[in-house]
Amino acid sequence: MKVLIHQTQATAADCVAGLFADRLARQPETVLGLATGGTMEAVYDRLIARFEAGEMSMAQAQSFNLDEYVGLSPDHPCSYWHYMREKLFNHVDMRPEFSFLPKGDAQDAEVEATRYEAAILKAGDIDLQLLGLGANGHIGFNEPTSSLSSQTRIKTLTRSTREANMRYFDTFEDVPRLAITMGIGTIMRSDEIVLLAFGAGKANVVAKMIEGPISAACPASILQMHRKVTVVLDEAAASALA
Ligand code: F6R
Repeated sequence: MKVLIHQTQATAADCVAGLFADRLARQPETVLGLATGGTMEAVYDRLIARFEAGEMSMAQAQSFNLDEYVGLSPDHPCSYWHYMREKLFNHVDMRPEFSFLPKGDAQDAEVEATRYEAAILKAGDIDLQLLGLGANGHIGFNEPTSSLSSQTRIKTLTRSTREANMRYFDTFEDVPRLAITMGIGTIMRSDEIVLLAFGAGKANVVAKMIEGPISAACPASILQMHRKVTVVLDEAAASALA
């Protein structure tokens, strides 16, 4: 596990955007694994800037997002489909027919999860997976106690995750209770993983992920077993490391 500590959130996000652009330059047809959430917004801003400057193209890439809320259609303003269109897809040359998220409004969410896992396998698995980190140690929506070898499936969101994501919804009750998420096993099959975490609020979980025991109590700790992970932090997020 390579850990890069930057002075500021801005330089940490620059670093992740740089790693992303380098991979695309080396391998234009990269299969990207994408994340949503507040942390990723700074990365997507920088990717858009690189695209607009003519420094990066996603025209030959394809992408699979980590997760989507069960029950939200792609047009719902709080869906991750909506987030991705607003924060990235509408502003770069990614082909819509090669940009995938689980369908939150599928008639049968379990069937949809199985279909999504099969689509990732058919694409040859993820080449470069971007991850944020939940304050409870989740990656994707793999909440604590998730099986460390899990595949794409439905997960019940913890109260703390629903509270953390409440800022995107009108009320706490509006935050869906279920999500379809890539599994930890799915994520671990990725060729390369880049995880970004910002801020003092993530410091304790960052220390658990990097220095703690590998445990389903902190799903991100499994990344210690991956052969090519880069963790990019600002100083605040790194402040509890030994
Ligand atoms: C989002 C996702 C989550 C977030 C995590 C951190 O697709 O899978 O694991 O990356 O909850 O979210 P923020 O960045 O909002 O703190």
